[in-house]
Amino acid sequence: MIETQNLTRHFTVNKKTVEAVRGIDLRVEAGEMVALLGPNGAGKSTTLRMLTTLLPPTSGTARVAGFDVTTQDREVRRRIGYIGQGNGAGHSQRGRDELITQGRAYGLSAAAARERAGELIASLGLTEVADRIVSSLSGGQRRRLDIAMGLIHAPGLLFLDEPSTGLDPQNRANLQEHIRRLRAEHGTTIVLTTHYLDEADHLAERVVVIDHGRIIADASPERLRSEHAGDRITLTFDHAEEARRVAAHPPGLIEGARIEHDGTRVVIEATGGARLVPELLRILEKENSAVVSVEVVRPTLDDVFLNLTGRSLREDGADLPGTTGGKDEVA
Ligand SMILES: Nc1ncnc2c1ncn2[C@@H]1O[C@H](COP(=O)(O)OP(=O)(O)OP(=O)(O)O)[C@@H](O)[C@H]1O
Ligand SMILES: [Mg+2]
Repeated sequence: MIETQNLTRHFTVNKKTVEAVRGIDLRVEAGEMVALLGPNGAGKSTTLRMLTTLLPPTSGTARVAGFDVTTQDREVRRRIGYIGQGNGAGHSQRGRDELITQGRAYGLSAAAARERAGELIASLGLTEVADRIVSSLSGGQRRRLDIAMGLIHAPGLLFLDEPSTGLDPQNRANLQEHIRRLRAEHGTTIVLTTHYLDEADHLAERVVVIDHGRIIADASPERLRSEHAGDRITLTFDHAEEARRVAAHPPGLIEGARIEHDGTRVVIEATGGARLVPELLRILEKENSAVVSVEVVRPTLDDVFLNLTGRSLREDGADLPGTTGGKDEVA
């Protein structure tokens, strides 16, 4: 469905080159659901805009749905749906009419467009507001209308740029449910960007982590976790002395794990750590170390990102991509 080679995009801002996307090689098979995850400015939207033919690459190539994004952009556009990061809808039409117009533009009959609009209005929770003028809708309502616009022609390949941003938890859940259903019923290939780690986790079986315009990891959420972050096991003891002793002479079982000790607690970070706990407790009991409580915390994708880059995904303005001095590139 998607194949890119060394996809690159530079912008020129105040005579400086911003390397927004720096050589992305990405392959997405039909039916996959892929989440692009990365901090602000990582290059997610720029990548999506190149794949959807809205922005020409500076260099490199991309084929989408079998066609080249630069030389066969019309063919690509007919086969994809795209919901951008900003608000697309925003006219003085009623929401329902806007949807029907969009459906007609994609070649649906009037009746089919009306039916499809009705379905989307219901499933995206827009029933109450669909017959109001779009400009009177709230941000979240408008966002949902944008999403309905991108889905009206049931495209085989769908790009969603931060679909849930600005939605309340209830509507975010509805949207995720809708995306899941779309895929189950139509086998739609979906590429979405998100800052919500739980969204990447629940929705995508493949997460592509992007930082500074490059792919730095590409795997299932489970695999990213097991390769780039361990479970955190916290053991609490009766006495600080005991915790200190265990941290200083840990059982062989957890050799190689990162072990910290703080007061009566020992914190162990180990891959697949949850499975070590029963044996660990048996050993400690034999050594007469009384464990008062055990807590096991599974790593989040944020921990993964932190381990990969040394920065938190949520840190605002987590570094802009490298800027280099004044080459002349067309923005
Ligand atoms: N039209 C443009 N002109 C100049 N610079 C741009 C343009 N579009 C994007 N950039 C720059 O390219 C870099 C990547 O931006 P992009 O929008 O792709 O990031 P993103 O990963 O989508 O971030 P966010 O999570 O904030 O949406 C940023 O440094 C941004 O400022
Ligand atoms: Mg973006």
